[in-house]
Amino acid sequence: MGTCNCKTAWDELNEVIEAYRGQESALIEVLHKAQEIMGYLPRDVQEAIAEGLHVPLNKVYGVVSFYHHFSVEPKGKYQIAVCNGTACYVKGAPAVISGLEEALGIKAGETTEDGKFSLAAVRCLGACSLAPVMTINQKAYGLMDAERAVEIIRQYE
Ligand code: FES
Repeated sequence: MGTCNCKTAWDELNEVIEAYRGQESALIEVLHKAQEIMGYLPRDVQEAIAEGLHVPLNKVYGVVSFYHHFSVEPKGKYQIAVCNGTACYVKGAPAVISGLEEALGIKAGETTEDGKFSLAAVRCLGACSLAPVMTINQKAYGLMDAERAVEIIRQYE
């Protein structure tokens, strides 16, 4: 996928955790930032936060399930992620995101009513040479523009 100088999402997450190490009172703030970075809060992310902030894991689970805003998993059958990292942003990721939002009738961070697609704008996926990059579940698509991205998701319908 070529070399990439961008930080990965996990690098960014670790920086956030480092900045709040041992600060239990920052839990909600860190969860917000983590969701912004990762798109959602899978178990391993919650574990890393619990450990970093010295908060019992059960408490982290409790907070995450209490607030509607937090999502534990990308919910759609097909999870679309559009990289909105610097390289992708510069090469047109915002247009790709809004094109998909329009085609799916949802905003980034949401799931279609039929549960088929969820859309997330995420940090650098580590494939900047192919910017803008989109992934659907594990499959990566490079050099996206809105039209191509919409064509691709149509194949999943
Ligand atoms: S910015 Fe690196 S893959 Fe998008």
